[in-house]
Amino acid sequence: MDPTKSSAISLRVNGERHSLTVDNRTTLLDALREHLDLTGTKKGCDQGQCGACTVLLDGRRANSCLQLAVATEGREVTTVEGIADGERLHPVQQAFLDFDGYQCGYCTSGQICSAVAVIEEHAAGWPSAATADVRPEAGPSPLDDDEIRERMSGNLCRCGAYVSIVRAVAEAAAVREAADSAAGGSRGERVTA
Ligand code: FES
Ligand code: FES
Repeated sequence: MDPTKSSAISLRVNGERHSLTVDNRTTLLDALREHLDLTGTKKGCDQGQCGACTVLLDGRRANSCLQLAVATEGREVTTVEGIADGERLHPVQQAFLDFDGYQCGYCTSGQICSAVAVIEEHAAGWPSAATADVRPEAGPSPLDDDEIRERMSGNLCRCGAYVSIVRAVAEAAAVREAADSAAGGSRGERVTA
């Protein structure tokens, strides 16, 4: 192995550790698809434009086509294959099924990973460009359709299933909020830094 061209790395994906040797230029997307056979993550544009390749890195969404695999060591990678809890679908996955949030399905894994993170970002009080009042004292704004469209705007759908996608994200967010309330939890303070 020429260390100037390739590296032996260890990736933690969906809770499992994988050892692999990759060309140093290999993206996380290609490492997932070509080395680990995790083909749920899709390649659309391969240049950060479409969101089809969205995965979670330490719980935050990232375009895996823009991330080098060698730079992902030590991070927790979650792909659409790791979103469900065993046989139980994640509420976002269930909502996409219930509200027909897809047509061909090519963008769907990226949409689902993104939506999972969007709901957590909103629950943590993170404002978006669509948030009318970003002052901390204004408190959390509702995750309405404008907020969802803005926060999901990095994920394109060539089939134009956006109306159903927005409904699915809203439903999954409501499920999360209800579970949070039942558990006696509260929404996080708005993040200002
Ligand atoms: S394939 Fe990564 S953003 Fe399009
Ligand atoms: S469902 Fe076909 S690209 Fe989104």
